[in-house]
Amino acid sequence: MSAYERAERAVSPIAEVVLAGLMQRRKSLPPKLFYDAEGSQLFERITELPEYYLTRTEARILERYAGQMVEAAGDGLTLVELGAGTATKTRIVIRELLSRQSRVTFYPIDVSHTALEDAVRNLNGDYAGLEVRPVVADYCEGLDGIANTSGEKLVLYLGSSIGNFEPMRAGAVLHSVRGSLRKGEALLLGTDLVKSERVLVPAYDDAQGVTERFNKNVLARINRELGGHFDLKQFKHVAEWNPKCSRMEIYLESLREQTVSVDSLAMRVHFEQGERIHTENSYKFNEHMVRSILSMGGFELERTWTDRRNWFAVHLARVK
Ligand code: TRP
Repeated sequence: MSAYERAERAVSPIAEVVLAGLMQRRKSLPPKLFYDAEGSQLFERITELPEYYLTRTEARILERYAGQMVEAAGDGLTLVELGAGTATKTRIVIRELLSRQSRVTFYPIDVSHTALEDAVRNLNGDYAGLEVRPVVADYCEGLDGIANTSGEKLVLYLGSSIGNFEPMRAGAVLHSVRGSLRKGEALLLGTDLVKSERVLVPAYDDAQGVTERFNKNVLARINRELGGHFDLKQFKHVAEWNPKCSRMEIYLESLREQTVSVDSLAMRVHFEQGERIHTENSYKFNEHMVRSILSMGGFELERTWTDRRNWFAVHLARVK
């Protein structure tokens, strides 16, 4: 039986990506593995950490400028959010929309159904005129389900999640989003900005170790879902700024030479001491990079709002 046949027969839907990622010479695991129920909860805690300025800063920009954003976006809007999570920041936009139109339909889209359930539970009942229609999906594969909704769409893609893709891939993801939109429809895109390493590194390596637990949850998840035998204490959380590529790089580094078996994959993974598993990149943008990914995606940058320190930006882009 080939390795891929083994993966296909394994119980878990994550089998294939885990197998492919750990068989490579340079090991990696895709970031979407972070977000099971446990990981989504840990990520919510990250967003509240003093070092993790991203969520807070973006929320402040939205609080201050949501009126202008919605005004500029259009009329009679249907709201769509990619990677909605618990949709906390979305409330600011929803409130603004409901002050201009009596009814709003909101499609939160996320890979985590537990996060979506929280989102629906949190929102329902709080706003007269709001209808929530959750969609469990991986939006990289397109948004076919929402292509023909009534009303003009306003798509939210917040939290600098777009920065977790290579720039080319980010352009392609935006292009596939664009495929479900009509000419003139709008996108609000949040991007983290380039800044001092002294601010960036602690945001991905906090003093309380929540980010470490979040990163290691990928290994814990392989243990839970695929019968893996990773000893989490034998791996170190690493967060490095790569100025040349303008990105934070996140790894799990093996503290010693070790071999770890993963029962459901009938696999033994060997690690040298110091060998790393790459788990995520988080690109930090400048205006040129933002324009470039938007234009690859078929969008035009219309306006940008930032905070006073210029740490984060929210952009309004329009389908060309
Ligand atoms: N999309 C988030 C970001 O790039 C995810 C994230 C935050 C993350 N902290 C992390 C991913 C630590 C891996 C490790 O900011």
